[in-house]
Amino acid sequence: MINNNELNPLIDASVARLQAEFGAAPEVAVVLGSGWAGAVDQVQGAKHLAYGELPAFPRPKVEGHVSEVVVGMMGGQRVAMLRGRAHTYESGDCTGMAGALRSLKRWGVKVLIQTNASGSLRPHMPPGSLMLIADHINAPQRSPLVGEPGSERFVDMSSAYDAELRAHAKKVAQTHNLKLGEGTYVWALGPQFETPAEIRMFAAWGADAVGMSTVPETILARHAGLRVMGLALMTNMAAGLSAEALTHALTLQQAAVSGERAAAFLAQLVAGLTELASLRA
Ligand code: HPA
Repeated sequence: MINNNELNPLIDASVARLQAEFGAAPEVAVVLGSGWAGAVDQVQGAKHLAYGELPAFPRPKVEGHVSEVVVGMMGGQRVAMLRGRAHTYESGDCTGMAGALRSLKRWGVKVLIQTNASGSLRPHMPPGSLMLIADHINAPQRSPLVGEPGSERFVDMSSAYDAELRAHAKKVAQTHNLKLGEGTYVWALGPQFETPAEIRMFAAWGADAVGMSTVPETILARHAGLRVMGLALMTNMAAGLSAEALTHALTLQQAAVSGERAAAFLAQLVAGLTELASLRA
């Protein structure tokens, strides 16, 4: 974890690099989670910039693993896609995306669409289902804002997932005849999967999907003043809800099966944002 005095110059340098490479910021950025990488193929006129060129962005961890920003068009909407995110389970640090998200905001991005792979807590959302995130539960009660100065750190989380953007997502799903669930996402730190007892507790709390990302980024994005939308792709039934043992391979396999449909929906969603009056203001 680095402090703001160290991070701010890295953000300035990242914004300058983004501007030099892509020009003015798109209004919409998407964080691509597991299973959502296919969305990059739907970007027209895509230009790529590796995270390695952006000092405030997470360092690529695995050799050969793509960590990059992709900018181009989806329908009539310009968009920046972020391939690769820092997870808290990698280092114990939940601030890993702070530099990247603050760079996007300072560049001029207004809307952050977060995507992830999740375990489903609800039988009516079997693997392959898509869920719009209406709210979240920060189960580890970890905050990326610990140590932030000023009263801005007391971020209002009562409507963290933007109501107008959610209404838009539901409209697009309806138009394209796609079943889109809506519910509460609970963050589990990982990297181990949950126990069945933990899943029963999360279900009793009102959670509908569980995963190991998204929540720290939503907090950081709201603190930065970005509007947030979240989409979760169910890759498995959560622990104890199916006979199958949970493995990373299983979640990746299901993500590959449903990823194409998820990516197509994401493209329709982003393209449709051109209709949103609040983004044209
Ligand atoms: N638990 C936590 N994270 C996940 C799961 C899960 O069941 N599936 C995909 N990501």
